[in-house]
Amino acid sequence: MRSFVHALPKVELHVHLVGSAGVDTVLELARRHPEAGVPTERAELERFYTFRDFDHFLKVYWAVQSMLKGRADIHTLVVGLARELARQNVRYAEVTVTPYNHITDGMAGDELLAGLESGRAEAAALGVDLAWCFDIPGEKGLVAGRETLAFALSERPDGLVSFGLAGPEAGVGRAQFAPFFAAARDAGLHSVPHAGETTGPETVWSAVRDLRAERIGHGTSCVDDPALMEHLVLKGIPLEVCPTSNVRTRQVASIEAHPVRQMLDAGVVVTLNTDDPPFFGATLEGEYLAVATAFDLTPAQVATLAENAVLASFLPGGRKTSLLEEIADVLASAG
Ligand code: ADE
Ligand code: ZN
Repeated sequence: MRSFVHALPKVELHVHLVGSAGVDTVLELARRHPEAGVPTERAELERFYTFRDFDHFLKVYWAVQSMLKGRADIHTLVVGLARELARQNVRYAEVTVTPYNHITDGMAGDELLAGLESGRAEAAALGVDLAWCFDIPGEKGLVAGRETLAFALSERPDGLVSFGLAGPEAGVGRAQFAPFFAAARDAGLHSVPHAGETTGPETVWSAVRDLRAERIGHGTSCVDDPALMEHLVLKGIPLEVCPTSNVRTRQVASIEAHPVRQMLDAGVVVTLNTDDPPFFGATLEGEYLAVATAFDLTPAQVATLAENAVLASFLPGGRKTSLLEEIADVLASAG
């Protein structure tokens, strides 16, 4: 199964740029910005990086964020992610970027865009195509919604395909962001909010109804509402499931206890993703392997998960077709 999962050409639909920073990348950033106080020695950094709980995750996340000062730092982050994706035979990723956080931290918008673009070019040379999702950090409120939309629409960088919403869900209603999502959709961006990661199915309903979500980030709690599951199936709204993330943030007890089984049984379109991979000790290959093992999936069922991600992506039709053909070839040769 391990070599089969590796051989499958994979697509990652839910990974946060800041949350993708691995130890090598953070070491490079920490040595470039020693004033940030992030450990500059590998062993100490690895200890700092070891996941303890959600609060500690946020502390590390903000420490990485604080070292991103200009285009070189963004470039380092993007290339670090691309190398990791290439190593795992991931061919395409939609990467979530939070411009509001970078800009309020003092980075010029042009620096952010230059780093994204040069990183994207280097990723393509490594065989990994990247697209961007610009997301609203929901906890920062309406001003973050307004500014994220304005930045996305005025800059419209190459590769920008979607508009998102992340951060805590409790007390951060999805509906308040409806006007920003409506404008983003009118401008041709796809709607991909987080919902149902840390709150119940009503948040997923709101993402679907108020934000016209085309995919749902996580959506874990949808299994608590059969009518919602039916709606997701009927409308073909895929879920960006991040099993290891959900276990590490204690939203579910274990991979075996993850509701991905019920989602699959109900016919919901499930895609597997990593969220903030090094923070949670996740890799995309690891997610496929963990789910395959926990739920005793056949190679054909695992290939279906890889196909789901291709189909749920915002790749052009021709690219989807060639990736699907490659997946079929890998499955056929696994015999
Ligand atoms: N931003 C980065 N990781 C996140 C997560 N797991 N949930 C919500 N927002 C996030
Ligand atoms: Zn996420």
